[in-house]
Amino acid sequence: MLPFASCLPGSLLLWALLLLLLGAASPQDSEEPDSYTECTDGYEWDPDSQHCRDVNECLTIPEACKGEMKCINHYGGYLCLPRSAAVINDLHGEGPPPPVPPAEHPNPCLPGYEPDEQERCVDVDECAQALHDCRPSQDCHNLPGSYQCTCPDGYRKIGPECVDIDECRYRYCQHRCVNLPGSFRCQCEPGFQLGPNNRSCVDVNECDMGAPCEQRCFNSYGTFLCRCHQGYELHRDGFSCNDIDECSYSSYLCQYRCVNEPGRFSCHCPQGYQLLATRLCQDIDECESGAHQCSEAQTCVNFHGGYRCVDTNRCVEPYVQVSDNRCLCPASNPLCREQPSSIVHRYMSITSERSVPADVFQIQATSVYPGAYNAFQIRAGNSQGDFYIRINNVSAMLVLARPVTGPREYVLDLEMVTMNSLMSYRASSVLRLTVFVGAYTF
Ligand SMILES: *[C@@H]1O[C@H](CO)[C@@H](O)[C@H](O)[C@H]1NC(C)=O
Ligand SMILES: *[C@@H]1O[C@H](CO)[C@@H](O)[C@H](O)[C@H]1NC(C)=O
Repeated sequence: MLPFASCLPGSLLLWALLLLLLGAASPQDSEEPDSYTECTDGYEWDPDSQHCRDVNECLTIPEACKGEMKCINHYGGYLCLPRSAAVINDLHGEGPPPPVPPAEHPNPCLPGYEPDEQERCVDVDECAQALHDCRPSQDCHNLPGSYQCTCPDGYRKIGPECVDIDECRYRYCQHRCVNLPGSFRCQCEPGFQLGPNNRSCVDVNECDMGAPCEQRCFNSYGTFLCRCHQGYELHRDGFSCNDIDECSYSSYLCQYRCVNEPGRFSCHCPQGYQLLATRLCQDIDECESGAHQCSEAQTCVNFHGGYRCVDTNRCVEPYVQVSDNRCLCPASNPLCREQPSSIVHRYMSITSERSVPADVFQIQATSVYPGAYNAFQIRAGNSQGDFYIRINNVSAMLVLARPVTGPREYVLDLEMVTMNSLMSYRASSVLRLTVFVGAYTF
């Protein structure tokens, strides 16, 4: 067993930095005679001291280190280091080499290493043992044989200190950027929210997120709009909807009465009328529709807003009925001598407040005898002069002279007299016209 077996501490192998030429320890338990002794690479046998002696390769190997590297002799090898590298141990000092320590003694460990119980050189954790000189702003990282001071994420080294990186200077955010110690946060304008990448801003659909629109909500880029259904208007607050009182806008919306309803309006008509085309009122013809209560012996007469049941037989003595509307005074009856020979019943209906003069009824003579002429007059029922007759040869027109307001009823006796003086002929007949004036202008 050769003593130099322990001259080759594994901890000398600084692979990363150094070009270290070390011979592999080959088995030395040979049966060689004492006179011949072989040392491992880097050592030579010194017969004087009977020890293996280190070879100073820096002196013996030409150009042991290339270029700018300097050669540093080492036990069993040599190191090539940058010229600026500080050498802590004077490994290549002059003088006799230090004796190779026996195995029982602790091995010298390189800086950053210390021997453990088994005398193996193990790494010192400078960070854990507060043996480092990292600034409080720096993180300490232990490394084999040394340590490193680094800046945390989001910091960078300026001089000896780590300072926060202002990420906001790099326009990472679409809208707004808030720098934070070691990081940053993007923010979005109102109506937007951060996208999945936490940097871009995407429109918020406020309508899906409970926007406070009372009726209709329209999302738009960055905001939303409330709208109202037809018949409502948006309140000043922009959210709620107020019913529009359509009836207050115009008195022409409905012919009779406008009734405002939520979101709409409706037209109503007075009794006896029905709604026609949403706003107009049309008289219901109860006689036609069968809604009347007239008996068999009666005739139904419709007028604006109602109807009247009149006795079908309206003839009064000495008149006798000859048809539904016609009563005749028989010439044979002496009582009829001074009476109109016939009375014809007619009914008509007009609306209130017609513009006047208004032609309302025309009387037509049925026959004109040669030499005869007709005369027309209102014989009864026109006490206030609301009507007059415009005579036109063989016919006459009943004219409303003044605007009248219903409900009102006139019974006018219009007389037509046909005369022929040559033949001493005179015939009179009466048209008994009932004029109903409705309560309304329609
Ligand atoms: C965005 O931020 C959230 C919350 O801070 C985080 O959980 C998520 O991982 C981030 N997404 C990205 C893409 O950075
Ligand atoms: C009456 O009728 C006759 C014959 O048609 C006509 O000549 C005459 O002008 C008419 N009189 C009036 C007042 O219209």
